[in-house]
Amino acid sequence: MPDKILVTREIPDAGVRLLKDFEVCVLAERPPTRDELLEAARGASGILSTATEKMDGEVMDAAGEGLRIIANMAVGYDNIDVEAARERDIVVTNTPGVLDETTADVAFMLMLAAARRLGEGERMLRAGRWEWWGPKQLRGLDVWGKKLGILGLGRIGQAVARRGKGFGMEVLYHSRSRKKDAEKELGARYLDLDDLLRESDFVSIHTPLTDETRHLIGERELDLLQETAVLVNTSRGPVVDEAALADALQNGRVFAAGFDVYEEEPKVHPKLLDLENAVLAPHIGSATVETRDRMAAMAAENLRAVLRGEEPKTPVEP
Ligand code: NAP
Ligand code: GLV
Repeated sequence: MPDKILVTREIPDAGVRLLKDFEVCVLAERPPTRDELLEAARGASGILSTATEKMDGEVMDAAGEGLRIIANMAVGYDNIDVEAARERDIVVTNTPGVLDETTADVAFMLMLAAARRLGEGERMLRAGRWEWWGPKQLRGLDVWGKKLGILGLGRIGQAVARRGKGFGMEVLYHSRSRKKDAEKELGARYLDLDDLLRESDFVSIHTPLTDETRHLIGERELDLLQETAVLVNTSRGPVVDEAALADALQNGRVFAAGFDVYEEEPKVHPKLLDLENAVLAPHIGSATVETRDRMAAMAAENLRAVLRGEEPKTPVEP
């Protein structure tokens, strides 16, 4: 009998075709309900999950003792209880490296769109409210030549920093550890978090979501930003206190924000939805045909390796 694999969402064929030697159960395009997930997990030796499914001890126990791997089709794995997996000898893998440039493109796109008031302008045009070109109309802020502050100078943070260099920006950063190579290559300057927030014209967040980074940016930190600052978040929603951000945007404490991730996806703080100076994307950081193919294939390869008794390429260390 081939091993059963649960694929929690419809994924690109590039992943599914690597699993042809297994009994594969693919759920729907939409996220499964909790009950559907628990039911479908029963008897699975491997689960290919996405960032929207909470993979905790209850799901692992629902699968049963045969579960050997949870392969997340995402680089972030805050949806998985890694400690519960370790206690049960279940391998956890993610998809690092294959989505860096694609996600960095979205961070930069949000930065440009927020600084140049693209969303506001497009809404005006589509609503038939664009009556003339005007010298004072829709004036935004220059991006080129400004100070770009990266919070979390890992793989994606560095890809954003490279884009910043291409725009003639000075790169500042704060991260858990110093990145000497990036300091040399990008001329990136390390600052503590408060100084990064004070000095940067643009702040782009690229940390994972952990106990340390939850609400890392709250009211106090937003107050440190310049009134002309633009804040971009493509990491995870809970890294920023969304209510505090909405207040800061509304009060003109910060110029604009570009967000791809939210505290309670797919819900977005209602205040943010009404603000012209918030550019809001629906978690599309890695959403290109090419990158989603690479992510699906990487997750499937990890699954296949573990079920064949081999080492997975990209295990998550607890
Ligand atoms: P990464 O290479 O691990 O980079 C994360 C960086 O954050 C690392 O340099 C890490 O420091 C730093 N960091 C961790 N905790 C910190 C803290 N408390 N304070 C300051 N810096 C801290 O990860 P990545 O591949 O760039 O991905 C980053 C995150 O982006 C993922 O975890 C995921 O949540 C998110 N993401 C979102 C999308 C999207 O669709 N919007 C797509 C991909 C990824 P060390 O180097 O010292 O570990
Ligand atoms: C997407 O959000 C990821 O973590 O890959």
